[in-house]
Amino acid sequence: MSGGATPGLVAPTRAGMLPAAPDVVNTSDYDSQTVQVNLRETWLIRGVEIPTRVVLAPMAGVSVQAFRRQGRRFGAGLVCSEMVSCAGIEHRNEKTLGYLRVASDEHPLAIQIFGSEPRAMAEAARVVEAAGADLIDINFGCPVRKVTKTGAGATLLDDTGRACAIVTAVAQAVGLPVSVKMRRGLRDGARTCLEVGPRLVEAGAATLTLHPRSAQQMYTGRADHALTEELVALVDVPVVASGDIVSRARAQAVLTTTGAAAVMVGRGAQGNPWVLREIVDGDAREPSREEVVAELVLFVRETVRELGERRAASFLKKFYGWYLGRGRFPKPFKQQLVVLDSTEEVERRLLAAAPGALALLELLEEEVSVGDEVLLELPISIYGGG
Ligand SMILES: Cc1cc2nc3c(=O)[nH]c(=O)nc-3n(C[C@H](O)[C@H](O)[C@H](O)COP(=O)(O)O)c2cc1C
Repeated sequence: MSGGATPGLVAPTRAGMLPAAPDVVNTSDYDSQTVQVNLRETWLIRGVEIPTRVVLAPMAGVSVQAFRRQGRRFGAGLVCSEMVSCAGIEHRNEKTLGYLRVASDEHPLAIQIFGSEPRAMAEAARVVEAAGADLIDINFGCPVRKVTKTGAGATLLDDTGRACAIVTAVAQAVGLPVSVKMRRGLRDGARTCLEVGPRLVEAGAATLTLHPRSAQQMYTGRADHALTEELVALVDVPVVASGDIVSRARAQAVLTTTGAAAVMVGRGAQGNPWVLREIVDGDAREPSREEVVAELVLFVRETVRELGERRAASFLKKFYGWYLGRGRFPKPFKQQLVVLDSTEEVERRLLAAAPGALALLELLEEEVSVGDEVLLELPISIYGGG
């Protein structure tokens, strides 16, 4: 069927379909004055209600709980953990189990798992369900050799039988809807996703996310959303479009031309939660320096609480550039922060650079502390241990 509607999906309007560009959605073809998609429209993945049509992408080394909670605050309707190894879950690896920590204000939340054995993936899915996730997401997109050489991630796109067996095993093991995130295929120009996608739905996937680059491409070139449009026409579950969504105009163009149920935002939201607000609500205000510092300090504090000081201090370094770049602060300031050893010192320098941020930070802390209930009881020591 076409249009991505499914029983229960409040079908997004596809008004004003534009002619699809040959291989990519070109926002310059799109007249934002005449076609407006409501990004605040609710949609459903089986019984799970997703309040907006923007999904925050799973990103390894980025999608910690602080990132996901922030994403929900800024308008993402669904957030996702980074990919979690099913072998790590099976062996009760402490660091792996730390990824399954869910706060009550994250919902709806998907936890993504990767692996190559249907039985182990089913067992991991049971643990993820017990941890409080709303969806189990399966990774058939990771192009990184460390993962693909184990037969997991994007490799499974070339092994449809095994991919389907994984989806079936997971769908039978849990009561939650199962989603699959995939690339277009392994090699440049591949259209494998169009063959595999419908089979995965038959196997039990309740939604598909497509990042239409090949594994070979990694992150080069462009995401070819003409493939997303083709996939939408082939399956009767909602499809999420991932790749190069960095603005409201782009989001609207992709939703309109592909008929996808939602767009996913990844790199565009790194150090820039304000892009989610812009995409969802059209609020294009640039944050003030005080807002940037308040969000960053909150992010630092929450990440330290989640990972422990030692892990957080190195994990956070890349975020300083992401937050303080985009012309928000002079470059040398970021360079001063990344060489500091303690996050307390980072916080002190940030607040000295924008003293007005303190009042904003206090307001934010009040807002986010409400409902921060950890559903999976895990010893706090594991977060400092890795
Ligand atoms: C640093 C980084 C880590 C990523 N980790 C994951 C992951 O764990 N699981 C996954 O399915 N995709 C992962 N991705 C892919 C993103 O979810 C997304 O599909 C891709 O970045 C394209 O979207 P974008 O152009 O909005 O960034 C990752 C991407 C980046 C940049």
